[in-house]
Amino acid sequence: MKHAFWFCSIALIFGLGALRPQAASAQQADEGKVTFDKMCAACHGKTGAGNGPAAAGLKTKPISFRDSKFQAGVTDDSLKTFITKGKPPMPGFAKLTPAQLTAVVTYIRQLGQPPKKS
Ligand code: HEC
Repeated sequence: MKHAFWFCSIALIFGLGALRPQAASAQQADEGKVTFDKMCAACHGKTGAGNGPAAAGLKTKPISFRDSKFQAGVTDDSLKTFITKGKPPMPGFAKLTPAQLTAVVTYIRQLGQPPKKS
């Protein structure tokens, strides 16, 4: 009886531990989407393809986050630095909290993996 109790507790702890990272990143991507839709989508487009309504008037066009070469060529840290500082015509977003930055980067990564066509 005692053994069964310990076994269950340990299984539960490991089970939860294994689930949590995925749950956390799904939640982060959701939070990132809110920020992205509000502050970034006008230029970068709802799906991150770089074709938002405000992009039409820009000389330098935003690249597509859906491009796997782009995704492979940048680290999360370099994305965060870029977003904080900006690069004309993109404004810097120094006002984002570290948590918001992480969330928006998580969402940009998700945009790079569009659901597979069935
Ligand atoms: C006013 C339009 C505009 C807005 C708003 C905007 N961007 Fe951009 N963004 C651009 C343009 C244009 C570029 C390309 C700059 C270049 O390569 O010279 C760019 C580039 C980027 C890049 C870098 C891609 C690379 O080449 O490495 C990232 C990442 C990025 N934007 C994220 C964001 C995020 C996140 C937000 C919202 C918090 C945002 N942008 C808001 C216009 C915008």
